[in-house]
Amino acid sequence: MSAPLPPLTIIGHRGARGLAPENTLAGIETALRLGVDGVEFDVQRHPDGALFLLHDLTLERTTNGRGLAATQSFDTLRRLDAGQGERVPTLDETLDLIDRRGRVNIELKTWGGCAEAVAVVIAARLAQGWDAEQFIVSSFHLPELQRFARAQPNVPIAALYCGVPLAGAAELATLGAAQVHLADEFVDADFVAAAARDGRPAWAYTVNTLDAAQRLTTMGVSGIFTDHPERFLRPVATAPMQ
Ligand code: G3P
Ligand code: MG
Repeated sequence: MSAPLPPLTIIGHRGARGLAPENTLAGIETALRLGVDGVEFDVQRHPDGALFLLHDLTLERTTNGRGLAATQSFDTLRRLDAGQGERVPTLDETLDLIDRRGRVNIELKTWGGCAEAVAVVIAARLAQGWDAEQFIVSSFHLPELQRFARAQPNVPIAALYCGVPLAGAAELATLGAAQVHLADEFVDADFVAAAARDGRPAWAYTVNTLDAAQRLTTMGVSGIFTDHPERFLRPVATAPMQ
């Protein structure tokens, strides 16, 4: 049996991918009802300008559509089945659903306008009383992330890596990143310690077992993205889905 986990931030990955279709309102609601600290989802900007939730650039794996999402009309995307009858949500619909019930990690999946468009949507929420700290914007595309930070400097950003950067934690300082998100198989304790010395927590993706979480915490990781929040949390009562 595993030793008890130290306090760990639990983030639902693509909603709660192990329990409901990924990047859908149902998945995000599932994660929130389980009492996650926050939810992570992937956002793309359609050539029409709309922001929508989808991980892949293509439609086949998660919807009943075909081809590149960017080559379909936005109306066509919205008619697709994203799993169990769920639709491809817009960013605004998603934020309406979350309604400040947890932290919101928006991962920028496209570039060339995505950062600025997300900044506009977040600015509208801040004007409605959301706290900037409620959001964390992340990306593997660090220049796009930097563009987001310039457009919306008050919202924390996180650099995403699926490896270990040659420049080490110095790159985090260059970006002004508040934290760093790391692939679980590339968590390097020295890199995590260097980030922590500068006050930057490290979270790891995708962590689905208590043993893996335990191992990562010994390397300094303080948060996890999980497809299975129920393995780490007990359900809590939240407002019913509208
Ligand atoms: O943001 C953490 C994680 O979601 C990054 O990888 O491929 O699942 O978007 P991916
Ligand atoms: Mg993601």
